[in-house]
Amino acid sequence: MPGLVRQWPAWPEFGTTSAGNKDAKDPDFVGAKKAIIEEYGADSLRKSWIATCEKLRSVTDDIASQGSCIIPVLEAENVLANGFSEHELSQVRETGCFIVQGVIPHEEVKKLYQDLTQYVADNRSSIKGWPAETPSILRLYNSPTQNAIRTHPNQLRLQKILNDLWHDETGETSSDPLIYLDAVRDRPPHQPFLGLGPHIDAGSLCRWADPQYRKAYAQIFSGKPEAHDAWDLGARKNADQDLFHGGAHSTVLRSFQGWTALTRAAANEGTLLLVPNLPTTLAYMLLRPFFKPPQQEGDIMDASKWSLDDSGAFPGTMKPDSQRLSRSSHPHLRLEECLVHVPTMTAGDTIWWHTDVCHAVDPRHTGSENASVVYVPACPTTTINKRYVKKQLESTLAGRAPPDFGAGSGTDESRFKGYQGHDGINEDAKRALGYDL
Ligand SMILES: [Fe+2]
Repeated sequence: MPGLVRQWPAWPEFGTTSAGNKDAKDPDFVGAKKAIIEEYGADSLRKSWIATCEKLRSVTDDIASQGSCIIPVLEAENVLANGFSEHELSQVRETGCFIVQGVIPHEEVKKLYQDLTQYVADNRSSIKGWPAETPSILRLYNSPTQNAIRTHPNQLRLQKILNDLWHDETGETSSDPLIYLDAVRDRPPHQPFLGLGPHIDAGSLCRWADPQYRKAYAQIFSGKPEAHDAWDLGARKNADQDLFHGGAHSTVLRSFQGWTALTRAAANEGTLLLVPNLPTTLAYMLLRPFFKPPQQEGDIMDASKWSLDDSGAFPGTMKPDSQRLSRSSHPHLRLEECLVHVPTMTAGDTIWWHTDVCHAVDPRHTGSENASVVYVPACPTTTINKRYVKKQLESTLAGRAPPDFGAGSGTDESRFKGYQGHDGINEDAKRALGYDL
């Protein structure tokens, strides 16, 4: 099957019980669960749980049989000219992810990748990487290559189209894109990477603990998971993703996380893996902490045999980290069959996934060239996003890393050989970088 992870990597398992979960007694964990049970009632949660696990059967069958082919692959030329067709829209709403090919012309990206490698070579001793033992993610935020990719007119036009997939009846936000600075990855062949197993970003415990955040998921908690609108920016715009501060959390809401390939990216060659389903996987992740599994191993897949868990147990949830998922803690997701590689990408292609979609980084890289990407998400204009981007710009202009990435960590990129800052950047891009805020 295309995209299948044939040998499951040594990613952490979070188990089916709270045994050994030291956070289960933490008042923030206990309180978050108690508040939701009180507000929505155990019966409603159970109704949602049964319906979601039932729906997951067909969702996971579908992914298991289609593999990577289920991920829509679109052409930038079409999307930029016409947006999404009705058919593409229904696919995107269900899978929560898609590739847009050819956002930046191939030859342009090849040159930009050469520039990046030169820039890294020229400043190697000052650039920190992560993880320490195999530093493929470079803590660089303002190289000329990153700035060229993220401010490219096609990028900004595409990001507006992507932000427009969301809606906000309050009129307090807009789809005008704001630029969120993130790092760059340049991963050599044969470098293993186990640092980012299956997870969902945009916070972890805060989804349940922050009253604004959990309100966005009210339908899921109140027995009507099929009525949840994952595209309601009005409901989501004030959610506090950084309620429990941690290095993994972005302050901003990204309508879509994404990256732009600087080189080829393919299965087992250092690409991305996704669970290509948004509504049912998300509902399952949110409901999972409220239920504990039956004693009999053979009954695990029978949702009706799970019972209410009102303890502070939240499998895979750690305050400073993204929400983690695993085969043992989230069995109905059938991750071994449903976490699939994205289709092969070439330089200048982009991959996008809704902020609530489960993803992982390819643990293997058996290809012959570096797998390099620039992280470029789509961010709508909201109050929280504006506030952050304004601070981010102040940091950049002062030579500091962006606030979410340890501003004040000591590395001053503006002193790097080849640094260009925002020289030559056009007015649209300057607005997206926060110059008008
Ligand atoms: Fe992530």
